Amino acid sequence: MITILGVETSCDETGVAIYNEQGLQGHKLYSQAQMHSEYGGVVPELASRDHVRKLPALVADLCQETSIRLADLSAVAYTSGPGLAGALMVGAGYSCGLATALQVPVIKVHHLEAHVLAVMLEHPEIQFPFLSLLVSGGHTQLIYAKELGCYEIIGDTLDDAIGEAFDKSAKVIGIPYPGGKQLAALAEQGDKNRFPLPRPMLRKAGLEFSFSGLKTAVHQTWLSCNQTAQDKADLAASFQAAVVDTCIAKISRAINTVETDVLVVGGGVAANHMLRSELYTLANKMQFQVYFPRLEFCTDNGAMIAYSGFLHYKKDNGEPNQEVTVRPRWPLGEL
Ligand code: KG4
Ligand code: ZN
Repeated sequence: MITILGVETSCDETGVAIYNEQGLQGHKLYSQAQMHSEYGGVVPELASRDHVRKLPALVADLCQETSIRLADLSAVAYTSGPGLAGALMVGAGYSCGLATALQVPVIKVHHLEAHVLAVMLEHPEIQFPFLSLLVSGGHTQLIYAKELGCYEIIGDTLDDAIGEAFDKSAKVIGIPYPGGKQLAALAEQGDKNRFPLPRPMLRKAGLEFSFSGLKTAVHQTWLSCNQTAQDKADLAASFQAAVVDTCIAKISRAINTVETDVLVVGGGVAANHMLRSELYTLANKMQFQVYFPRLEFCTDNGAMIAYSGFLHYKKDNGEPNQEVTVRPRWPLGEL
């Protein structure tokens, strides 16, 4: 039985999971968000130290809950990049040490590939090739996923990522870090037509995104209104609608440029309700299929790392070389 432990420590979430041939056996997640909120953003050194504190206990709990012993593991998969160097080093050091002790290989998982594949945890029927919209705190990419380990980036952001735009706009209207999710919740109570915000990059041909102008427009609009609770909700709704409209327009362009009628969405912003419902509507209209990971597997988690590790292990058995390596910058096209 192939049994893989997955370890995620690329940013501010410590995630661990075990995946085997019978599927996901269990997963555990510890979010550092509260610790970082005091500083208005992720403090890399604090993130690394907290991963050190939490990781071994999470793995112990996971083993106990799943009744799977460390000795049962076939390999240890860890996020090797991209991410914060120090945070990645914690997961890499732990995983390589454990794999050495168990005399099993390690599998270096690409964090973005794991987000792309997360949807298959529940939809293993999805076949390559497919189009992927990756929308996270650090990335906004349209990816043509040709096969496991082979990805072509066909659209990228020129500046801020979508999640980053959500978080920064949230901060502007007074929602503390990490505000993206709360901004989205507030948007449900607002009028999305109240403030006319720009739909970036729609007039230009191509599949690039840009969100820094929209963020500035949110800032200016906020400064020029009365900043009441209703203004806040209306601005949140107007911002969210501008972002979602942009994604819809890009997807409707992109889906016709690649040989597939399947779209998968991944990354933290894939949890956004409006994005999900508008993409379902578009898919219905344009006759393609769209899949989302379950909500808890949109944001960072160990399950997607264990699953990616499992697929790569089946493909090439993992690396016997347990040298601790991380790549804080690692374009998905170079996988
Ligand atoms: O994938 P993720 O956990 O971390 C990265 O790899 O970046 O994504 C986190 C991002 C944050 O920017 C957060 O604000 C955003 O996802 N996010 C959301 C929602 N839930 C999380 N953005 C919009 N709507 C949501 N419901
Ligand atoms: Zn992520």
